[in-house]
This record gives sequence, structure tokens and C-alpha cells, in this order.
Amino acid sequence: MANLLAAYSLLRRSSRKLFDSRPDLNFSASIRSVNSGLTYNFTQKCDLSRQDVCYRDQIVSKHNCFLRSSGSGVLTFFPRGEGSGFPIHYRNLASMASTPARNKSFSMVNSDDISYFKKILGEKGVVQEEEKLDDANTDWMRKYKGSSKLMLQPRSTHEVSQILHYCNTRCLAVVPQGGNTGLVGGSVPVFDEVIVSLSFMNNVLSFDKVNGILVCEAGCILENLISFLDNEGFIMPLDLGAKGSCQIGGNVSTNAGGLRLIRYGSLHGSVLGLEAVLANGTVLDMLGTLRKDNTGYDLKHLFIGSEGSLGIVTKVSILTPPKLSSVNLAFLACKDYISCQKLLSAAKTKLGEILSAFEFLDINAMDLVLKHLDGLRDPLPSSKHKFYTLIETTGSTESHDKEKLEAFLLQSIESGLLTDGVLAQDINQASAFWRIREGVPEALMKAGAVYKYDLSLPPEKMYDLVEEMRGRLGAEANVVAYGHLGDGNLHLNISTRQYDDSVLTKIEPFVYEWTSKHRGSISAEHGLGLMKANKIHYSKTAETVQLMAAIKKLLDPNGILNPYKVLPTSVLPQSGEEEPKTEA
Ligand code: FAD
Ligand code: MLT
Ligand code: ZN
Repeated sequence: MANLLAAYSLLRRSSRKLFDSRPDLNFSASIRSVNSGLTYNFTQKCDLSRQDVCYRDQIVSKHNCFLRSSGSGVLTFFPRGEGSGFPIHYRNLASMASTPARNKSFSMVNSDDISYFKKILGEKGVVQEEEKLDDANTDWMRKYKGSSKLMLQPRSTHEVSQILHYCNTRCLAVVPQGGNTGLVGGSVPVFDEVIVSLSFMNNVLSFDKVNGILVCEAGCILENLISFLDNEGFIMPLDLGAKGSCQIGGNVSTNAGGLRLIRYGSLHGSVLGLEAVLANGTVLDMLGTLRKDNTGYDLKHLFIGSEGSLGIVTKVSILTPPKLSSVNLAFLACKDYISCQKLLSAAKTKLGEILSAFEFLDINAMDLVLKHLDGLRDPLPSSKHKFYTLIETTGSTESHDKEKLEAFLLQSIESGLLTDGVLAQDINQASAFWRIREGVPEALMKAGAVYKYDLSLPPEKMYDLVEEMRGRLGAEANVVAYGHLGDGNLHLNISTRQYDDSVLTKIEPFVYEWTSKHRGSISAEHGLGLMKANKIHYSKTAETVQLMAAIKKLLDPNGILNPYKVLPTSVLPQSGEEEPKTEA
């Protein structure tokens, strides 16, 4: 009886869009989603394009804080610091056991270097202004801060090649930087490394409409590519909350996962080719556009996910799926974690090929979002729920998708997997639902200090870790869980008023040991960066790490590319005495 009542309540809430098959002439146009980059077949009776633009501006200015919007075709940098709403919580790196020492074999930038860079890049390509450098030296979380005095902004692969050739010869360390949205301290200098920003390399080079193959420069902002493809009737195979700022080169270099991996797989599958510049300036042209190419080792994969430690990615060729016309989004509540898991299995079986996202957040994450982000409402306000999931379907036949989703939701309510739920009725609702999920990282930043962990774990074990962590920390911290449940990816975040080493010692190494014991990965999608370079052994064997170090030494013998990141310093030469310097 209780189940039937719940089913009735869901049917009532989601009224006509999914449960009423009568055609309605007022509901015919489709508008582009702000958040997903997909087209929702939702409708408005007013001027659609205007409303979309207005809504988009509102969302971006509130949501992205430091992120950029391409909504109006103009790129705006929302200033950090004053007025950004985020308190500053620089982490005291000196308190970390793994604080690296500056590698003495690296030179310091001098006036001759500046003159050379100005000669090849022009004045605009050489940034020395304090304010701009401050932004580029500081990561999105304001946890890692370098002290670089120089940022270079090349406009072509040739310029990147000249920069790296020179830096290698001079033994100047370099940090490649995309949108600087990375979450592991990989995109900012640790000391005085030269920042090489790809922002000026932002052209779409070609789009093959027949095969859906996009070729573009590495500095293209993901959201701009999403907009470009939308006009062509295609979508990007990846989508993430940082889309307004992150760049495709950064996405490839981190092998970013995001909200659509469950449907379109990882970038190791969708990236068909890339161009990269090695530390000595050699340009590797692997910018193929073929689906199949088995001629020898597929070296592009070395650059996907190597976080700028092996080369600078300058161009990318990527397979993009066609935009499908029918998109539905449900915001659902489950009473316990086991129900979320069972719901996922059922969604995979019952929704099959139309399932395009399966995300979850727990009540702590939900409370945080509702407390810290303006303009958001609880979509299920009648009672509190321990867990929330977002299920999105994307397909080409609206009636077929509706029928499948309806049947799935009804069965899930009847079997007790769902306690409540609501289906987005229009683009605004869909965007608001996504905003809740995508807004968790921002809400955490507003709440104070955050210890962020990005783990791959067998889904059945995932929430045990969250509960154990709560047991260890008690009232000292708010342990928050959310993530890409469909991919077995938990974002475990521990929120406190300020950073405190006594809290950190309760979290680490416990969190890494626990993950390793359950054969998980200590980095599902964010990478290792500076934060986890010395933790790689929790997920990789000594032999594997040694081989990685050998590859690093082969491609970057002087270790100038993103030093102190990705691999433990112990497996890499730390000074010129240990390994001879190599010049190009
Ligand atoms: P940056 O942060 O600038 O750099 C990241 C790393 O890549 C650094 O090591 C840098 O040196 C290297 N790099 C950058 N560009 C290049 C290049 N052209 N060549 C070589 N190396 C390069 N990540 C996910 O995987 N999934 C998510 O869902 C997700 N959501 C996020 C939501 C928010 C709100 C934020 C702030 C971050 C999120 N991230 C997510 C993390 C981050 O956005 C991704 O890692 C993203 O791919 C980084 O892109 P970027 O251009 O900002 O790179
Ligand atoms: C997300 O999925 O929201 C991102 O990976 C960011 C985060 O983990 O905080
Ligand atoms: Zn994520």
C-alpha cells in the first residue's frame, strides 16, 4: 500500500511530460541545456532563445564563480578573491610529510630569458603582471600556490616547440596550464616554474559532419566546443561542472571523466589522435582521425592522463556523438545506500542503451548545496532523504524513451527502491537538478576547508568507507559523499572550518590504505598532481611505477615538465649529478 501511494505521488508530480502521451502543440520546440550541452526536448511557451540566454547568464554568474561563460560569445573572467564568496584557505604545504624540495638543477628565469621569450612570442605572450600571475599561481581550491614570475602564452605549436626547446636547454622547469580547474594541485607551479598557458590556442580546426570528428587546438574551452557542436547537431562525449573554464587539452591531459562516462566511455576511447610537444621541443604529430589504426604502439595514450608530465598537448582530434532529440532527467530519493546500488543495476538492465548519466549525492552533500548556493530549492521538499540520485536518459525516440523510463520508475517504486522522485518538466527544472549535483564542489568551498578524495571502488563497498570515516572523525568534520555512482567513482570530501593537521592524520593514510585494501584506485578521474604523486604505490605496483619513471626519463630526461607531480620524486633523478643533462 505504501508503495502504491509513493507511485501515485511520483505520477502526480511528474504529470504531463512523461505520463501524458497526448501531443500538445504548445510543447514542440526544443532548447539547449545550459548544463549538459545536450538538447532537452523540453519546452517553453515564450521566447525560447532569449530565455535560454538569460538563464544561462544567471547560472554562470552564480554558479561558476571563477569559471568563464561562453554563453554570450564573450569570455568573462569572474575575479577571484574579493567578492568571489570563497574564503581563502591556503593549505600549509610545509606541514605535509611529502613536501618536495626545489630541484636545484633547475635554473631561475633571468632577463635574457625574458628577452628571448618576448622575441618569439611578442609582448602579449609574456605575462609578468602580478595580478595575472597570482591567478595562474593559485589553484581552483586555493589550496596550492606557487611563486612563478613568468607565464607564457603561445599561439601556435611552433611557439610551444620553441619555448620547450629553450627551457630544456636552459633547464627551466615548466608547468603546462589549461583552465586551471584541476583538483590535485597539478596545474600550478610548486616553486618558480614557468607557466605555459594554452589559452590563446583556442581554434576549432575542422569538423567532419559525416563522421562526427572534431579537430581543435588544446586551449579550446570545453563549453565552447559544446556550443559549437550543438549548432552542428553533435555533442561532446564528456561533460563536467568545470566546463565553463576547463580546456580540452586539460581534459585530455587529466583523462577527465565527468557526467557522461557511463554512456560514452573514457577519453582513451573517444580521442582519435593528438599532437604533443616533447620537453626538447620535438613535435609529435599523432593527430589521426581514423577509428582504426594498429600500426605499432598507440603512443597518444601516453599523453591522455599524464597531466603534462610527458609533453604539452597542442591539438586534439575527438569522436563526437550525434545529438539525440529526447532527453529526460529524474531527481530521485532512496532510503539507503543499498537501494541506490540496486537502482543502478536495475537502470542498467531496464534503461539499457538510453541511460546517459547515473549520479548520486548523500544528504550531507544535499544539505550543503541548499545551504550555500543561492536560488536552489529541494526538488523533494516533503521530507528529508538519506540519498539522492539523478538519472538521465538520452535517446532518439521520445515515446520509446518515455515508456521505458516510466516502466522503470514504477517498478522501482513498487519494489521499494525509490522513496520519492520527480521528473524535470522543462529546461529550467533540468538545469536546477543538475545544478544541485554539479554545485557540490562549490558549496564545499564555501563551507570552509575541504579534504578532497576521488576514489574508484567496487560500488558495493563505497559507502562503507564514508561511514567508517564518519566514525573516525566524529563531530570534528562533515563527511560528504557524492559522485559518479554509475562508474564506481566516489567523491569523498571532508569539510571542516579550517585546515588542521590533526584532522589530516585521521584521514590519511587511512583513506588510501582502505582503498588499496579493497583494490580500488586512489584517483578515479582527477589525476595525481602534487597531492598524490607520492601515493601512487597504493594503486600501482613498484614495477609499474619504475616503468613509468623510465618513460618519463626517456621523454623528459631533464625532468623539466611539471616537476614534483604525478610520480614520486624518489623514482626520478633530483639533481643534474644523478642523471646527465640532455640537450635537444
Ligand atoms: P588544468 O587544471 O589547467 O590542468 C590539469 C592538469 O593537466 C595539470 O597537470 C596541467 O599541467 C595539465 N595540462 C593542462 N593542459 C595541458 C596541455 N594542453 N598539455 C599538457 N598538459 C596539460 N574532473 C573530472 O574528471 N570530472 C568531473 O566531473 C570534474 N568536475 C569538476 C567540477 C569542478 C567545479 C571543478 C573545479 C573541477 C572538476 N574536475 C572534474 C576537475 C578538472 O576540471 C578536470 O581535471 C579538467 O579536465 C582540467 O582541465 P583544465 O583545462 O582546467 O586543466
Ligand atoms: C564532480 O564530480 O563534481 C567533480 O569531480 C568535482 C569534485 O569531485 O568535487
Ligand atoms: Zn567527478
